Amino acid sequence: MWKCIGLFTIMILLLFLQDHVVISSPSAATTHLSPNRQKLALFQFRLSMSIDKSPAICSDGTTSKVMNWSLSSDCCTWGGVTCNQTTGDVVGLDLRCSQLIGAIFPNSTLFQLSFLQFIYLDHNNLYGLLPEEIFHLPNLQVLSVFYTNLTVSLPKNKWGSSSSLQALYLEQITLSGGIPDSIGYLKSLNLLSLPNCSIDGEIPKAIGNLTQLTKLDLSLNNLTGLIPDSLANLQNLTVLYLNNNKLSGHFPSCVANLQLLEELILSTNLLSGPLPSNLTALSLPNLTNLQIFENLLNGTIPSWLFDLPSLFFLSIDFNSFTGQLNEFNASRLVLQVFTCSNNLINGSIPESFFDLVNLTMLDLSSNNFSGVLDIEMFSHLEFLDRLILSYNSLSVRVTNSSMLPPQIQTLGLSSCKIKEFTHFFGTAENLRYLDLSNNQIHGEIPQGIGEAKFYNLDLSENFLSGGIENLPWAFLDYLNLQSNMLNGSLPASICNSSSLDVLNLSHNNLSGVLPTCPSSLDYSLSVLDVRVNSIRGSIPSALSNFRKLRSLNLYRNKLEGRIPPSFAELEYLEVLDLGSNQISDTFPQWLEALQNLQVLSLKSNKLHGSINNVSKVEHPFPSLRIIDLSNNEFSGPLPAKYIKNFKGMMNREVNTLEKRYMGDSYYSDTVTMVIKGVPTEFVRILTAFTTIDLSENNFEGEMPEFIGNLKSLRDLNLSHNHLSGHVPSLIGKLSVLESLDLSFNQLVGIIPPELTCIYTLSKLNLSYNYLSGHIPEGAQFQTFDEDSYGGNLALCGRPLSKRCNIKEISETQEDADEDDDYFFSGFTWEAVTMGYGSGVVVGFLIGYVILRTRELKWLTRITAKKWGRKVRSLEIRRFA
Ligand SMILES: *[C@@H]1O[C@H](CO)[C@@H](O)[C@H](O)[C@H]1NC(C)=O
Ligand SMILES: *[C@@H]1O[C@H](CO)[C@@H](O)[C@H](O)[C@H]1NC(C)=O
Ligand SMILES: *[C@@H]1O[C@H](CO)[C@@H](O)[C@H](O)[C@H]1NC(C)=O
Ligand SMILES: *[C@@H]1O[C@H](CO)[C@@H](O)[C@H](O)[C@H]1NC(C)=O
Ligand SMILES: *[C@@H]1O[C@H](CO)[C@@H](O)[C@H](O)[C@H]1NC(C)=O
Ligand SMILES: *[C@@H]1O[C@H](CO)[C@@H](O)[C@H](O)[C@H]1NC(C)=O
Ligand SMILES: *[C@@H]1O[C@H](CO)[C@@H](O)[C@H](O)[C@H]1NC(C)=O
Ligand SMILES: *[C@@H]1O[C@H](CO)[C@@H](O)[C@H](O)[C@H]1NC(C)=O
Ligand SMILES: *[C@@H]1O[C@H](CO)[C@@H](O)[C@H](O)[C@H]1NC(C)=O
Ligand SMILES: *[C@@H]1O[C@H](CO)[C@@H](O)[C@H](O)[C@H]1NC(C)=O
Repeated sequence: MWKCIGLFTIMILLLFLQDHVVISSPSAATTHLSPNRQKLALFQFRLSMSIDKSPAICSDGTTSKVMNWSLSSDCCTWGGVTCNQTTGDVVGLDLRCSQLIGAIFPNSTLFQLSFLQFIYLDHNNLYGLLPEEIFHLPNLQVLSVFYTNLTVSLPKNKWGSSSSLQALYLEQITLSGGIPDSIGYLKSLNLLSLPNCSIDGEIPKAIGNLTQLTKLDLSLNNLTGLIPDSLANLQNLTVLYLNNNKLSGHFPSCVANLQLLEELILSTNLLSGPLPSNLTALSLPNLTNLQIFENLLNGTIPSWLFDLPSLFFLSIDFNSFTGQLNEFNASRLVLQVFTCSNNLINGSIPESFFDLVNLTMLDLSSNNFSGVLDIEMFSHLEFLDRLILSYNSLSVRVTNSSMLPPQIQTLGLSSCKIKEFTHFFGTAENLRYLDLSNNQIHGEIPQGIGEAKFYNLDLSENFLSGGIENLPWAFLDYLNLQSNMLNGSLPASICNSSSLDVLNLSHNNLSGVLPTCPSSLDYSLSVLDVRVNSIRGSIPSALSNFRKLRSLNLYRNKLEGRIPPSFAELEYLEVLDLGSNQISDTFPQWLEALQNLQVLSLKSNKLHGSINNVSKVEHPFPSLRIIDLSNNEFSGPLPAKYIKNFKGMMNREVNTLEKRYMGDSYYSDTVTMVIKGVPTEFVRILTAFTTIDLSENNFEGEMPEFIGNLKSLRDLNLSHNHLSGHVPSLIGKLSVLESLDLSFNQLVGIIPPELTCIYTLSKLNLSYNYLSGHIPEGAQFQTFDEDSYGGNLALCGRPLSKRCNIKEISETQEDADEDDDYFFSGFTWEAVTMGYGSGVVVGFLIGYVILRTRELKWLTRITAKKWGRKVRSLEIRRFA
């Protein structure tokens, strides 16, 4: 409609307004426009914006409110405009979700609307800096701006509206310059909500001046420092959200003064020390929701926590709380949710929990609760839908006739010393997620389980025997049966399951052949792990009908024949482990085009022939980080073309060790490799881990110089081949190399002194070659002993007992000088320190620790996957 307005009108309007801009600026605040001029100012504001004509983005399907704005009508009838009925002044502007695009400048006529009491601009494509002028509007009570691209900076001094502003609601915008002390002037403010605004700095003490405040939300920012004690003045506060910041110091005991407080969420911060012991139930009579998970809190759980009469949501997970939970008076409590996972709490589970009749969720996992517990104790909790007792020192008794809580959906009983589970799941219609891993269950998987409607089933690490046909294949999306004694073959029903996503059958005694599933179904399977079983026959090319496979692990079975070329179609494949089988084939060159392949292990098979160096793609194996072809019969030269192109091993950034693992969140990839001479099972593969193992083959010829380009390589094993020529000095460029094994080859010449500059090198084996001359000295090299050099008859110098004569020393010197150019040009100290400082050693420690730690794997997985957002949003659920 606005389009009909003639250019002429607009020009008149502009002339008219220009005159006003002059008058009203800079002290616009006190100038009051007549209603008619307010209309023109509004219209001019509208003209300064464009309107996105694409379908509305807002969920409520609203169309832009400004569509009916026309100079020919009364502006009080315009969409989103509210007027004072008696005076006709524009007092409110609600332009939420109006598809506005544009920036608001300080000269915007919006700021001439001095009667405005509320402004809502949420969900528009506004950008740039929101001018401070908006805070000078003298009557402004409510300002709401979220989900825009605006940057807002709160006034450091003058708030024109300081006496009137009641609600400031900025969300998911950028608030630059932190929260200024001047916030304390807003004496009428009762709602201050600034979540997710990238706010830096501290919470100013002056916030304690806002005594009218009922809700304060500063969550999801980068706030640092302490929680100010001045919060104690906010006597009217009902809601306090400071979660997901970097706040430190102790739990704010000043909250004891906040009699009206209903919700206190301080989770995911750096709060430390014990909870205050001097609070009482009377201090916080109205508190319903208390969340302090993911902090550094310690000490015992004070009794007031279970004394709060209105509390129904309590979450203290991921802290370091110790000691026991005492019995509490459950009849006084309305508790519905209690979670304390991942602390150090011990002793028995208080019986009072069984009297919490309204409990819906109880998670005590990953503590050290002990004692014997009958699962039936929970059976009368008729609303309980999530019960997790995993990873404690509990003995949970489950018998054939055990009744479960009627509404139970998720039951986590890992590591609970359970001996049987014959029928009990039959009593729970809604059970979908069952974790009985790491118990002592013997016997066969019970028949009836096929009728259950499990999505997630984890029976791993038990003593189950017999076959696996009887499972609810049609429903399952996650099935973990690893480390049992299951036998029989893989059931054909796998081919019927379109929902199955992760299937882990590793470490059993399964026999038979791999299934040949038709291509007709759209499979979800992304992880198939059948390592360490007795599967026979050839690898069916139909495996590639599982189009979404990311990890295929067939390690240590009895597979033979060839590697199906159809694997080239597995475009999502990241991990392929066919090691320790009897595969007889040439190198599967067609895998080189797989863009996502990061781990390729073909070790200990009967692969043979030379690896073709004429690859068909420009960048073969672009993401590969781990390649293990050891213990095969490959011959010919080293695969130089590949080594030259392993982009995944050249990336310097990988060196800055982030703790990221492959398959983080809901599955973990595993490879078994010989690392630094030790066979190591990497349950979770660090994404910074890079290795080439071509040992025990018949490779011949020289080592390519450009191997020095693989800057993030950590392990190189070329031992037990027929390599000849020199050790290239460019190996010295591998500045994060930790292990180098070139033993049992026919290498000649000196040991390049550049090797002494690899400060991360902790394992070196050059034995049984024809190396000669003086063993270089210095740095890391002091730590290697004779074992690193054995069988090289012409080597001399420490640590060998054979001394060098003058001739040998000078020859070594001459040899080395040839390479000095490179040494001093390409090898910067920066590179050295980067490699050294990157925490490689720490990295290895992490690897080993991870090997030994059973984390909350099951829960984490579910949390991330199925429940993920749900659980999280439940945890930070806000009760209106
Ligand atoms: C308002 O300011 C902006 C940017 O400073 C400028 O581009 C625009 O021309 C000004 N508009 C008026 C009407 O003065
Ligand atoms: C349980 O919840 C019901 C319904 O919300 C409520 O009426 C009842 O008082 C609660 N019982 C306890 C002990 O909290
Ligand atoms: C619980 O742990 C504390 C140390 O935090 C220890 O002193 C106490 O003996 C333990 N109690 C039980 C029952 O294991
Ligand atoms: C857990 O408690 C048991 C006894 O109940 C004790 O033997 C064990 O050491 C405790 N573990 C930890 C990590 O405190
Ligand atoms: C599986 O093991 C059971 C004993 O637990 C044995 O009776 C059965 O014959 C085995 N089946 C196969 C196919 O090996
Ligand atoms: C697969 O599903 C079809 C149809 O639902 C059914 O007839 C067939 O028996 C199933 N096959 C297996 C092996 O479960
Ligand atoms: C695995 O099954 C084979 C027969 O299929 C049997 O000979 C072998 O003993 C079983 N191994 C284990 C560990 O149960
Ligand atoms: C399957 O179970 C094995 C055995 O513990 C484990 O190492 C592996 O990480 C699991 N595989 C996947 C893909 O999660
Ligand atoms: C290199 O490979 C050989 C043979 O596969 C193995 O024996 C040796 O331990 C490996 N060296 C290192 C340092 O891992
Ligand atoms: C190097 O390899 C040889 C042969 O495998 C072995 O005897 C020696 O102990 C190894 N040295 C080191 C330092 O690992």
